[in-house]
Amino acid sequence: MSVIVFGCGYVGLVTAVCLARMGHIVQCVDIESNKVAALSKGTIPFYEPGLKQRLVLAQKDQKISFVTRPSLDAEICIIAVGTPLASDGSSDLTQIYAVADTISEMENPPKTVIVKSTVPPGTTRNLSRYIQEKCPNRKFDFISNPEFLRQGNAVEDFQRPDRVVVGADSAPAFETVERLYDGFSLPSGKFVKTDIETAELTKYAANSFLTTKIAFMNELAGYCEKIGANIDDVAEGMGLDARIGPEFLRVGPGIGGSCFPKDIQTLSSVAQERENPLGIVDAVIRANRLHLEAMSAKVMDLCGGNLNGLKIVVFGVTFKANTDDLRNSPAHAIIPALQKAGAKVTIVDPVARKNAGRAFEAVVWEDDPYLAASNAEAIVILTEWDMFRTLDLEKLAKVSKEPRLADLRNLYDRETARKAGFKYTSVGR
Ligand code: UDX
Repeated sequence: MSVIVFGCGYVGLVTAVCLARMGHIVQCVDIESNKVAALSKGTIPFYEPGLKQRLVLAQKDQKISFVTRPSLDAEICIIAVGTPLASDGSSDLTQIYAVADTISEMENPPKTVIVKSTVPPGTTRNLSRYIQEKCPNRKFDFISNPEFLRQGNAVEDFQRPDRVVVGADSAPAFETVERLYDGFSLPSGKFVKTDIETAELTKYAANSFLTTKIAFMNELAGYCEKIGANIDDVAEGMGLDARIGPEFLRVGPGIGGSCFPKDIQTLSSVAQERENPLGIVDAVIRANRLHLEAMSAKVMDLCGGNLNGLKIVVFGVTFKANTDDLRNSPAHAIIPALQKAGAKVTIVDPVARKNAGRAFEAVVWEDDPYLAASNAEAIVILTEWDMFRTLDLEKLAKVSKEPRLADLRNLYDRETARKAGFKYTSVGR
């Protein structure tokens, strides 16, 4: 099939490359000409394991191309542009409507329009009215097909999805999506066909529910600390119940990324707009904010209540491992809080430095954790990168001025850290 993908970000590019590797002819459209030029040469502007190799192969097979304006007579187009939070907490749909204008201006626009961007329920239908009005002589099929890709695992998630959720109004529209994904290993019975609004909402519901699981554990971790219980063991004991499942029960410094914080906020806003506030969702947003605050307070406690002039080394600033994405990373809340209390912050992160720009003010970047820890007065682990899982703790403690470790991903056990010489704290243990 021939496909145009609008948006060369994490979602659009992974979608485009994976479809091209399946044999479809794919044209990717992005308004940023620098990005298009770089991608045409096989350079990916972000870190996503496995993507570059696949892009190079797709380019070698001439299955994929990059442009700033669409020029392919395609059967399908996929909208995968950003829908960031607006300042009032609603979704900013500017990029979606800019794509709608581009589609309407095409000489021969694709008949099937798939919305993959995360959009508030009702958006795809509004978009269909908008485009249909501009192109009255063309009959379109509009489809909602939300993505469920985890950054760092996106290629695998695309090729072997748990499920595909499709919202459409007609049988031929469902068949088009089935043909598009024919060849990916879709578990049988996991192709959820529904109406457009339900598909749109499913995305928000899934992400908000996963956020709720983590926020619940993070909140419970505080109580564990009060009574001397161990949150990791609580999680294990809960997760073995098949009705709960072991995933997304891991505590950490707080929930981040480009999706969870944004999606749960949007769900809260759209429900409030319809005078149906979602109390649990609102409580989760609040709990995550309080948890982030508690994490900097934890570092403060570890250092005896005073951070003034202390050298604090932060291991990892991305919102999780295997991505260079800093959007809504807990580091954005925790590092400024430490600095405000007078700390001098050094950062070690295996990939974030290149794209960090001015994301963190007045920090020192180091590549080597041991060099960074030299004369440190505390080390704070924020991201579970492999390189921080296998540290030589004794060596780290020796080079530190004051061996203190705030392990906010629970990567080490207390005894090991203490034996290595650290004054140690973690989350909920
Ligand atoms: C998420 C969804 O998983 C994906 O389906 C969706 O389409 C996009 O949003 P992503 O943002 O890439 O993917 O990250 P994810 O792995 O889900 O983690 C989100 C946040 O939760 C991270 O800050 C992570 O550190 C945190 N997390 C995750 C935990 O703190 N504990 C866990 O057990 C799992």
